[in-house]
Amino acid sequence: MSGQGIRSWRLDDARQSLVLAARGDALPEVVYWGPPVADEAADLAEAAIQDVTGGMLDEHPPLSISPEAIRSFPGQSGLVLADEAGAPLVPKLLYEAAEESDGALVLHYTDAALGLRYSGRFAIDDVTHVITVSAQISSDAPIRLHWLAAPVIPAPQLSDGMIDVSGRWCGEFQLNRMGWTPGIHMRESRTGRTGHEHFPGLLVLGHGTTNMHGEAWGYQYGWSGGHRMVAEELPDGRRQVQFGHASGTELDAATTCETAPLYLIYSNTGLNGCGVAFQRHLRDRIVSWPDARRPRPVHYNCWEAVYFDHDVRILKEIASKAAEMGAERFVLDDGWFGRRDDDTSSLGDWTVDRRKWPEGLTPLTDHIQTLGMTFGIWFEPEMVNPDSELYRAHPDWVLGPTDQIPGRQQVVLNMALSEVRDYLFDRIAAVLGEYPVDYVKWDHNRVLPMPDAAQTRGTYDLFDRLREAFPAVEFESCASGGGRIDFGILSRTHRVWLSDSNDALERLRIQHDAALFLPAAVTGSHVGPRRCHTSGRVLDIRLRAWIAAQRHMGFEMDPRELTEEEASVLRDVTAWWKANRDWMMRADILRLDSADPSVTAELQIARNGGRFVVFAGKDGTSLQIAPRPLRLTGLDPDARYHVSLRNRSDAVGLSRGIPALKSSPVALSGAYLMAQGLSLPWSFPASIWVLEGERL
Ligand code: DGJ
Repeated sequence: MSGQGIRSWRLDDARQSLVLAARGDALPEVVYWGPPVADEAADLAEAAIQDVTGGMLDEHPPLSISPEAIRSFPGQSGLVLADEAGAPLVPKLLYEAAEESDGALVLHYTDAALGLRYSGRFAIDDVTHVITVSAQISSDAPIRLHWLAAPVIPAPQLSDGMIDVSGRWCGEFQLNRMGWTPGIHMRESRTGRTGHEHFPGLLVLGHGTTNMHGEAWGYQYGWSGGHRMVAEELPDGRRQVQFGHASGTELDAATTCETAPLYLIYSNTGLNGCGVAFQRHLRDRIVSWPDARRPRPVHYNCWEAVYFDHDVRILKEIASKAAEMGAERFVLDDGWFGRRDDDTSSLGDWTVDRRKWPEGLTPLTDHIQTLGMTFGIWFEPEMVNPDSELYRAHPDWVLGPTDQIPGRQQVVLNMALSEVRDYLFDRIAAVLGEYPVDYVKWDHNRVLPMPDAAQTRGTYDLFDRLREAFPAVEFESCASGGGRIDFGILSRTHRVWLSDSNDALERLRIQHDAALFLPAAVTGSHVGPRRCHTSGRVLDIRLRAWIAAQRHMGFEMDPRELTEEEASVLRDVTAWWKANRDWMMRADILRLDSADPSVTAELQIARNGGRFVVFAGKDGTSLQIAPRPLRLTGLDPDARYHVSLRNRSDAVGLSRGIPALKSSPVALSGAYLMAQGLSLPWSFPASIWVLEGERL
């Protein structure tokens, strides 16, 4: 790229610079994304030019924000489309205009011969440091879109590899660490929802990066209909990362198509730098809280206590016990509508089942309100059982072929149909209007018969209408646990049901890994039954309670099963959570690099750095005999901290030594805590230490 005729743009903040440059009228390349640099963009563009040798073209085809096949690009193009009849179009986009404002940029390119216009949007948030990018394509004549990438970012060549995220029911947020190899690493969610299997996030790792140290480049795609991610190393060694909707999910020809927002963050403080930026951006920019100052209420959810067996007398008793333990919101789960005695019927029939609720829900909601709790209720709006009044009246409202394989005995409503959305709006609004509902748990328990972007847009539209009509109501995104978690759904909801696993040890791992992308304030975590219903494991109430207290706390067991001792532990931990939630729900979650692989530890630090809590959970027996010191992070090295073991009475008899924390608080410098770390008492597997720290 020669200095002459170079167009350039840049986004800068205290964390990073992202510099775009283009030769002549061609689409620009991101020539730099990393720690802040003040150099002229044109100088960076020239300095970034790589040499060529034998067996290569005479110069490198541009790895632009939408790499173009027509410019000899040797990898995946950023845009793949056809005309309405299906004939491929091969665009060559040329500069038209740029709109620049403080921290934001829109670049417009056209292919006049094909009647196409491309826009790339970029914005940097100088508080959260997250960069948001998206792309749009519009056309004079209808086009068939196969693939549109959000503006494409090259990945560094001095990178060890990447972490992407897979998962399953009861096993969400599994991190996969892998190296770069020539060719494509692709993840594509083709089930029509975000999915447990393919969370739309990626972390590219600098050399030797850990939770606490090194460079990382984070990506997160805000779309609930399934995404595609391409991490490609080109034959010449350059690397690109592309994110967009799952390919081919725009089923109809259209004149305008766009990507969802892609969120980007550079970190030189390890993976935590990405995690904290995503946590803050989601909580402070993406989620629209009905009342941001309202403390997050402690939930009680009755699902694992009663399932479909609703008896108002028993539910009232359960509510009383839950309130006595500290619950503040009672969520009536599946089973209250139609003739829903099991999961074979009634989805779609959103009227109260008078067999179970002869006087409607009022006797329960009155009771809940008397207890000082608010009321939440479960829906699964996008679904219908063939055994339902709705299906019998409107079999034509179902998405997909009639001989499709059902999932949980249910099929999916076609949310692109306005009559479907109107029906659902009316039914849900009737319930929200009749009862004092302040919370909706919105479930989505099966995959679509085939991916379809119009379905996701229809669902978003229904959310938006309900949010507008009921602005004080909070919504939770649930999909058999964490099957629909992404920044798109979270711009309409306020909490995610992270997993159907209430097994505290599994939760410890899942919520630890999810913290790379999600803040505590939206991450639901419940104290489950003594014997976990999805793992069969029996876990102590101390572990169950403290693991739930790491995030947005709730209970989901039948409180009638609690012994007096268990109830007293739960009351104590819940009271602690309530006393700390105001700062904890706004805290940064920093994952600790634990020297003992059986210890999963995190530090939650208040935004002003004045206090912190460390949770160090132990899921197995250590290989070495004495506990290894736990190094902290994110503290001021020059400050001194008062650190105490909140649950030191949980120390077991086999802990025979005299680590200072066992008997009294310690006062130590941030420098020491981050260099040497804390010596914790010996403990059993399936237990947790909770440490409170205060800056002196
Ligand atoms: C799946 C959810 O993840 C559960 O929490 C519960 O709401 C059930 N669906 C109800 O059918």
